[in-house]
Amino acid sequence: MTSTAPVSLTGIKPTGQRAEGGSVHLGNYLGAIGPAIALTERYSALYFIADYHALTTQRDPGALRSNVYDIAATWIACGLDPERTILFRQSDVIEVFELTWVLACMTATGQLERGHAYKDALTKTDAPNAGIFNYPLLMAADIVLYDTDVVPIGADQKQHVELTRDIATRMNHHYGEGTLVVPEAVISEAPIVLGPDGQKMSKSTGNVVPLFCSSDALRKAVLKYKSDSTPLEEPKVPEGAVVYELFKQVATPAQTEELAQKLRAGGFGWGHAKQALFEVLDARLAPMREKFVALRADEAHLDKVLAQGAERARERAQRVMQRVRLATGMR
Ligand code: ADP
Ligand code: TRP
Repeated sequence: MTSTAPVSLTGIKPTGQRAEGGSVHLGNYLGAIGPAIALTERYSALYFIADYHALTTQRDPGALRSNVYDIAATWIACGLDPERTILFRQSDVIEVFELTWVLACMTATGQLERGHAYKDALTKTDAPNAGIFNYPLLMAADIVLYDTDVVPIGADQKQHVELTRDIATRMNHHYGEGTLVVPEAVISEAPIVLGPDGQKMSKSTGNVVPLFCSSDALRKAVLKYKSDSTPLEEPKVPEGAVVYELFKQVATPAQTEELAQKLRAGGFGWGHAKQALFEVLDARLAPMREKFVALRADEAHLDKVLAQGAERARERAQRVMQRVRLATGMR
């Protein structure tokens, strides 16, 4: 996309248990990465790895570093073209902290106290770290630092973009229209992907199908999906069954209809349906997995890609920061 195209920006936190094939799961791909890559057709895209956000919970430097490479390799293996899209590490553009401070000075503490993530942390501990409290400010700075027009995110992140809009609007009222671009959230319409235990697939609960594990491990993960105990010979209702719904998300409409007919006809068990799901998934993921494995084995190459991305990102960031400095009376 040309540099005059509207800007799409999103970040993924490099957290989560590292497993064979990386730390990203099928839910992240279908719900976030795939739709964000589709937007790169129409937008000038900046996609980054939110390593400073991960620091609120991730205290193991080796694991953090490894997860950053996993996510970089995952984006590229899933189809992101680093020539067209700016792929970078959040921590490579330190201007984001300067802007975080400016935004903090325009935000009432009460707004941060009402943050979902902070309130959630308070249910688990009396004293969440200040990083968790300030997290929405860093995220707001991530967004406005690049004159972002749209932010593709999951519904859980909507509040953060609302806060960003609020702060950007206040900045514009106070310092002049055009000081910051007010972004829009683009909420993924992809249905929530369920994991083997029937609940939302999530790395925090370990209820996942890893995106790039081996074919064998993928089969094992798919076979773990819960299903009802309707006997093999009896007809089954596909709609609403977790295995069928997931199949629908990854297969073609013709394949989905064929599976539905087999299930409704009877003589076809959920074990067969899981095998069909595995085959469709494996065929779809195998070429990307191969790319992931090759990319992940070459950290020096990933460093180079991220450094180039950071350089392009920093150029934009410096332009916006200069505007903000002038507007706020710094220089
Ligand atoms: P997790 O929930 O596993 O910790 P994150 O919160 O890091 O994952 O989410 C990264 C992105 O993936 C977000 O945009 C989120 O909305 C999306 N995502 C995560 N889990 C799912 C899921 N089960 N279905 C659809 N999208 C998901
Ligand atoms: N908070 C987001 C998450 O947990 C990650 C993130 C950080 C982000 N900065 C962002 C997403 C800016 C979109 C835009 O998933």
